[in-house]
Amino acid sequence: FVDGSITFVNGLKRAYAGEIAPVTSPIRGPDGKRVEIGTVAHMTAEEGVSAVDAAFEAFGRGQGTWPRMALGERVAAVEHFMATLLGVRDEIINVLMWEICKNTSDATKEFDRTMDFVKDVLEALKRGADVSSPSFREWTTISGVTGKVRRGPIGVCVMVAAFNYPLNEMYAMMLPALVMGNAIVLKLPTIGGLSHVLTADALAAAFPKGVVNFVTGSGRSTLGPIMGSGKVDMVGLIGGRKACDALVLAHPEPHRLKVFSQLEGKNYAVVLPSADLDNAVNQVISGTTSYNGQRCTAIKLVLLHESISDEFVTKYVAAVKTLKVGLPWHGAAITPLPDEHKPAYLGDLVADALSKGSKVVSGGSKHHTLVVPTVLYPVSPDARAFQEEQFGPVVPISTFSDVDFVLARAAHSWNGQQIAVFCSGDDPAAAKILDNTQAIVGRININTAPSRGPDQFPFSARRSSALGTMSVTHAIEAFSIETILAFKEN
Ligand code: G3H
Repeated sequence: FVDGSITFVNGLKRAYAGEIAPVTSPIRGPDGKRVEIGTVAHMTAEEGVSAVDAAFEAFGRGQGTWPRMALGERVAAVEHFMATLLGVRDEIINVLMWEICKNTSDATKEFDRTMDFVKDVLEALKRGADVSSPSFREWTTISGVTGKVRRGPIGVCVMVAAFNYPLNEMYAMMLPALVMGNAIVLKLPTIGGLSHVLTADALAAAFPKGVVNFVTGSGRSTLGPIMGSGKVDMVGLIGGRKACDALVLAHPEPHRLKVFSQLEGKNYAVVLPSADLDNAVNQVISGTTSYNGQRCTAIKLVLLHESISDEFVTKYVAAVKTLKVGLPWHGAAITPLPDEHKPAYLGDLVADALSKGSKVVSGGSKHHTLVVPTVLYPVSPDARAFQEEQFGPVVPISTFSDVDFVLARAAHSWNGQQIAVFCSGDDPAAAKILDNTQAIVGRININTAPSRGPDQFPFSARRSSALGTMSVTHAIEAFSIETILAFKEN
């Protein structure tokens, strides 16, 4: 049980006097009710704005202690924080399993990957990554102008992350931003925020007051006033397209706001006749079902060449039926969905696909929010499941006879994140897809499922899927800005 009846603003962890709401798990007790696993303070709009005021004060228009501190000292403060965080590793992993139903392996990976990401950011900074181009680290003369460059903070950053990687993706923004001297307001995810409550003591011990602040409760009531305060210089958001638009438009001067976003993806897996079908099936199983398909990088539409479609579907259905469905412990691959409303939305997608000629070829049953992967085949291009990001265990499978169909769909999609192509090395149809999708998506995966990592690789996307690139070194750039010190011999 995590007691979240606190606020963490201006370096002070205080008992909250206002509304405290229970936090429940998707896991149900013997009475059939969701188990209560903690509490959360529902901050008012004014209290949300007080968090941004604290960050604004701590940044002090660039004159605060934190932004003026030497980079090496900030690196040391973050190292101290990460070392302290190890003390609550097991609690955080446990909370991830109860609150968002990540299985043991994924919850452990989330924590450990986060530690590795931050460690690599700090190592990169120690090697001099606080300049974009190493050639400008030392005084450099070009056309009579001598200059050297350093990266420094942007100001007050508001960070919002989604429920599916509540710690990892928040820290992939927050820690690089912190170490570069910014002051932070974290809007804890409405689902998945308890892990952060466990970090409040470590944050208070490591950073000057006001440098990190929490906003908890409803984003709908707090984020508008926070953005409207005029004190926010940057927003980092991992979540939905509409949420991103709303944040930007709530700022009084949106043109002045720096935005970093990782949003939605409708990643296609395209299986060509030349593919190794067993490998394709394994990869598509992992891409469609890991963490119940609740990853922005999940495969959200499977496009099969009609010559291999029946064989692929037979193998895929046999494999999907072997996945262990249950609670996050004991190696379950499919676990309850955290969002109570999700099964109804997924049910609407399935009903719509069925009304347009598709069939459920596997799954289709559910128990509360535990949804057995529901495989739809063949899905018509005008079905909602073909177009929308389902973000859950519904797998639409469709067919094509000519790769031009795939290319036309990809060209007209809002998705700019990833595509996976399954083919042999010398397949001209595959070469055509690769040539024609380079200006459409941020990553083309060959014979492997889409993913964000390894975290040293740039994770970027086009169109409505992202603004900005995430990786160890890109994060340093994303959350800082360059200043050049220059002079000219007269
Ligand atoms: O949900 C979006 C994440 O960025 C996906 O990351 O591919 O490592 O699971 P992942």
